[in-house]
Amino acid sequence: MSSTVKEKHVDRSATESIRPAGTFYIETYGCQMNVADSEVVAAILKKHHYYPVDDPEAADVILVNTCAIRENAEQRVRGRLQYFNALKRKQGSHKVIGVLGCMAERLKKKLLEEAISDLVVGPDAYRDLPRLLPEAMSGHKAVNVLLSREETYADIRPVHLHSDGVSAFISIMRGCDNMCAFCVVPFTRGRERSRDPRSIVDEARWLYDKGYRDVTLIGQNVDSYRWTGPGGESVDFADLLARVAETAPDLRVRFSTSHPKDLTEKVAMTMAAYPNICKFIHLPVQAGNDEVLERMRRGYTREWYLDRIRMIRRHVPDAALSTDIIVGFCGETEAQFEETLALMEEAAFDHAYMFMYSERPGTYAARFLQDDVPTEVKKARLERVIALQRRLSLQSNRRDVGKTFEVLVEGPSKRDAAMWRGRTSQNKMVVFPFEAGTAPGRYVNVRIDDCTSATLLGTIQPAES
Ligand code: SAH
Ligand code: SF4
Ligand code: F3S
Repeated sequence: MSSTVKEKHVDRSATESIRPAGTFYIETYGCQMNVADSEVVAAILKKHHYYPVDDPEAADVILVNTCAIRENAEQRVRGRLQYFNALKRKQGSHKVIGVLGCMAERLKKKLLEEAISDLVVGPDAYRDLPRLLPEAMSGHKAVNVLLSREETYADIRPVHLHSDGVSAFISIMRGCDNMCAFCVVPFTRGRERSRDPRSIVDEARWLYDKGYRDVTLIGQNVDSYRWTGPGGESVDFADLLARVAETAPDLRVRFSTSHPKDLTEKVAMTMAAYPNICKFIHLPVQAGNDEVLERMRRGYTREWYLDRIRMIRRHVPDAALSTDIIVGFCGETEAQFEETLALMEEAAFDHAYMFMYSERPGTYAARFLQDDVPTEVKKARLERVIALQRRLSLQSNRRDVGKTFEVLVEGPSKRDAAMWRGRTSQNKMVVFPFEAGTAPGRYVNVRIDDCTSATLLGTIQPAES
């Protein structure tokens, strides 16, 4: 490979004098956990003198951090792996192509047998990369997909490769013990474990000192966060939220994902008590019918879910709410599906992520239930939930027109360089014309003048004197 090409992209700022072990390029798919994990991987590799590049052609190592949540997520990754393999052949190079994350864990050695990767490393084995990479670089296939009961990467300060310098994720736990019938995550991420709260608070402080103003505490089910110290002291999720919120009054704190069966009143009260804990909850409901919820093994009923929403609104009246919906789960009838639509109306979600059910090998549903809703029906149901949510989001945004919100500026708008973008505490995206003094990481007051179903449009208001 040509060293001049490499030179252009290499970031050697940290350790100028040490001979690099190689360059790496990393691409990330899937959820926020994977984004955070790629930052851990980058930190591990940099410490061992691999340098990040932003062009796969210039990389000695191409890593794809993958998602297995739905069939189409895996197909996308396969497409990318084929592309990288073609690139490798074209360049005639000894590039290593590595698969990380949930597909690595799910498919293990099969990925080597398919000859689309040289290296397979599961989510709990990233500390082993510095040992595995030289092996793979010398032409031996390398695999580590061991899951752990302890690993939280608590001591590793993530390297934020593609950050806006304003918002960051902090991983507070790993794994999931819930075993929802449709979900592959417990198989790919292993048992649930919580990270030491002191390391979480330290990371929040470190981010704040670097200029970050918005941190999201992430885990598959943050409400079951629990850490027990050596002296028997116990920290639950609400306690952790409060501790992080106390880092600085102008550090916004968000969290994701909450599980309806575990979300406590204490969490809602903590949200209400700290102005810098954002007034936004992502609370996936999945379906609106009790029999479907039971088959999904979600551990709550429709009424329980609606009651959780009432509880949140009681404590945090200005809270915005988003959700996840799966349509066409095993045995879902038309009438049962319509209960999902009715629940969406009743909850008046501000935002939703909506999916067609995709059977995942090894899950309870794949083993014991029939994936019997035809694809055409799933598609039609998906279109209906999307159309309904668009209307609900528009209604929600229209209610904000005329109001003024404190907005954390994130950067220039992607569509129009004269415009800037930021978010409200309720996680709504606001676009507004630039004014002197506007900069990423600053707070501005923006009056909302107009909206679409996806965005609020406004004008900066002079600061109150
Ligand atoms: N831990 C989170 C969800 C993680 S996965 C929670 O429990 O809410 C993100 C979303 O993907 C899920 O909420 C669900 O809506 C969707 N999902 C998971 N498995 C799926 C499958 N097999 N088919 C379609 N959607 C799925
Ligand atoms: Fe999957 Fe359920 Fe765990 Fe969420 S709570 S990751 S949907 S098993
Ligand atoms: Fe996908 Fe794994 Fe996240 S399956 S959604 S990347 S935990």
